[in-house]
Amino acid sequence: MSLLLMLPSFSFGIYSSNPPLSLDYYKSTCPTVLEIVRKEVECAVFSDPRNAAFFVRLHFHDCFVQGCDASVLLEDTIMLQGEKKSSNNINSLKGYRLIDRIKNKLESECPGIVSCADILTIAARDAIILVGGPYWDIPLGRKDSKTASYTQADTNLPTADEGLVGIMDKFTSQGLNIIDMVALAGGDNNITAMDYVTPNLFDNSFYTILLRGEGLLHSDQEMFSSLFAIETKELVKKYAIDPIAFFEQFSESMVKLGNIIDPDTFATGEVRKNCRFVNT
Ligand code: HEM
Repeated sequence: MSLLLMLPSFSFGIYSSNPPLSLDYYKSTCPTVLEIVRKEVECAVFSDPRNAAFFVRLHFHDCFVQGCDASVLLEDTIMLQGEKKSSNNINSLKGYRLIDRIKNKLESECPGIVSCADILTIAARDAIILVGGPYWDIPLGRKDSKTASYTQADTNLPTADEGLVGIMDKFTSQGLNIIDMVALAGGDNNITAMDYVTPNLFDNSFYTILLRGEGLLHSDQEMFSSLFAIETKELVKKYAIDPIAFFEQFSESMVKLGNIIDPDTFATGEVRKNCRFVNT
């Protein structure tokens, strides 16, 4: 094992292992939560398969900013600057209304119980399944933040023109490692038009595209072609020939992504009534 893989994954004030979550969190308070979210996500993805990508990206952009706390869903108000207008989100992050629909359903079934951050996490998983990806169990019990961070949304999220070292740094800062980065970057392209081989189908074709040097984003191709791509290149080759290894790693890394919790946000968090606004 080489140096890059041995680098410890530091977590700067965030839980990414042992978060305060549990698989049966809503067992007595909202036993139908998974069923309700699944039905709504099915409806959205069957009506337009591109909606699957919106759910997944919302969850990713949420968790990299203050942890998974639905801060990404907050609107600008006099009291609060949201993240929606930050450079990485404006005009490109979509699906807010789809989350509102799920939240409304849940509020009529189990009012005030299910956090928007949990909705984002479950919806991302269900969306991946619907486009042919793997299933994984989701620890639940996230809290919704009362704050957002426009600055972190600008700085923590990777950008398309960024080099490999910068992107790796952004993942390790969240307690994720290089393996997580390569596996999760597959989520990026696999279910969108960026995967021109099998758009809207979750598979490992993204990695075969990189092997051919045809990655659409500079940041993606860097994982195979950068001078620093010693580790990542091996992983790209592995996932290109072994879809099962990719699915397994993707599931594991999605759980880690969803487990990024900021203890301060968690301690002061709430279950919002409306995902776009903190409770009054
Ligand atoms: C590795 C670093 C990453 C970079 C540089 C990156 C960058 C981007 C960019 C530039 C887009 C196109 C946005 C647009 O068309 O407006 C995009 C789309 C997307 N990203 Fe990422 N991303 C990364 C990682 C991830 C991860 C880890 C996930 C989720 C696990 C993810 C999920 C998505 C999805 C689902 C889309 C498609 C959204 C749509 O079709 O509207 N990305 N990404």
